[in-house]
Amino acid sequence: MRKHPQPPPRIIDPADIPEGTLIDGEEKPRRRRVSEPRDTAAGPALAAVICPIGHERAVNGDQPAARDSAAVLEEALGLARAIDLDIRIAETPPLRRPVPATLLGRGAVERLKTAIADQHIKVAIVDAKLSPVQQRNLEKAWNCKVIDRTGLILEIFGARARTHEGRLQVELASLDYQRSRLVRSWTHLERQRGGFGFLGGPGESQLELDRRMIEARILHIKRDLAKVKRTRGLHRAGRKKGAIPTVALVGYTNAGKSTLFNRIARSDVLAKDLLFATLDPTMRSIRLPNGQRAVLSDTVGFIADLPTSLVAAFRATLEEVVEADLLVHVRDVAHEDSERQRHDVESVLRELGLEERIAEGDMIEALNKIDLLPMAERARLETVSSTGRDRSSVFPISAVTGEGVDALLEAIGERLSAADAAIEVELPLADGATIAWLYRHGDVRSRHETDDRAVFTVAMDAETKARLAHRLGRELA
Ligand code: GTP
Repeated sequence: MRKHPQPPPRIIDPADIPEGTLIDGEEKPRRRRVSEPRDTAAGPALAAVICPIGHERAVNGDQPAARDSAAVLEEALGLARAIDLDIRIAETPPLRRPVPATLLGRGAVERLKTAIADQHIKVAIVDAKLSPVQQRNLEKAWNCKVIDRTGLILEIFGARARTHEGRLQVELASLDYQRSRLVRSWTHLERQRGGFGFLGGPGESQLELDRRMIEARILHIKRDLAKVKRTRGLHRAGRKKGAIPTVALVGYTNAGKSTLFNRIARSDVLAKDLLFATLDPTMRSIRLPNGQRAVLSDTVGFIADLPTSLVAAFRATLEEVVEADLLVHVRDVAHEDSERQRHDVESVLRELGLEERIAEGDMIEALNKIDLLPMAERARLETVSSTGRDRSSVFPISAVTGEGVDALLEAIGERLSAADAAIEVELPLADGATIAWLYRHGDVRSRHETDDRAVFTVAMDAETKARLAHRLGRELA
């Protein structure tokens, strides 16, 4: 097996490995060369986006009334655009009763067949969950590649993953998905050749080989992931010891998390009008208006119907969310489906075991993009958020203009300092070791020196405070 100290966002391609080499102890069998030409043409592939409406798309548990078809289609188009497809057909065929062989009814399959041939479509995205058999039957009927919602999300994740861990997670989820779909020609395995993963593909003659290679690769990735997780756990433990609280930005994809993150942390995390522009948590140390230090993390964007298998695959990435001291839910209030998006984000948070936080309102909501709202609507939000129950938990902001962001940061500071008490500690300046310890383990907010002594205002959790008291051999106020 080749070593991948920092593997690129690759999905294993059997063609990459020289014949006769050892694959985790097994010799790679010789196989027939696949002579069929592959589509490696540059530029976006011609695509069709098909959103069956009326089909039960529930994946994340309880669902409110079905979303309206225009919003569903708009989101599917957004997803498809995220991987740069040239969309020529966008349809919402009604689906009263799912057909086991093709999901869609015969009429819809036939009608789309003609349109797909006329437009020379290469990829048809069906925004639903397709069984491997349905997928294969549709590919045969339409004579083009067909991918379902999970496949599409995996493609996007694959294109966006940036860190080592993110890439491993995506590869693992993809392999797992592919393993169940070995009945048809390859999709994601083709990514290595350039172009999209789902274009072209070797025939079924190598299924056995692929199956064994997938198993081997899955084992390998799981081992790598366990290592990465251990390292991350140590970093997190280090932060906890240092009493630096963490704030995680969560929210629906495209809500503006990275834009807000950049404004607060003044970094340049990718902020684009692309769904899932952020896949891996990104962290920055920030200073809040009350002088307190915190670690801010930008996390993966959530989405409706995120397949449960993917939620599980990304659990490690989302651990930052679970462990955060405070969650800030960034919402796009200018989006027509804003309420529904809120519901979807909350269901994913519930899946992550954060039920209590939601129930107790233990979260700050940043109502983003108010610059896009009409004045009357803005005024209404400002009134709602400055009175009553929502007073200290709902903040209308614009991550682009900066409006409302200072008030949001103040609120974050207040919430965090309520959890972490600041104390005063007086030390002789000659005691450099304890002063260094204080900086290492606490959050020093101020320092005043007089002759040979210094008074520090420092925030720390109860455990760190007890250790300091022990070190100094005296009680601390
Ligand atoms: P994912 O990475 O998909 O989870 O997205 P995200 O939530 O990080 O969103 P991002 O910050 O990438 O913003 C998405 C788009 O919304 C970008 O085009 C931003 O410029 C735009 N945007 C973000 N905040 C605002 C805002 O306050 N007002 C306006 N008008 N646009 C905004």
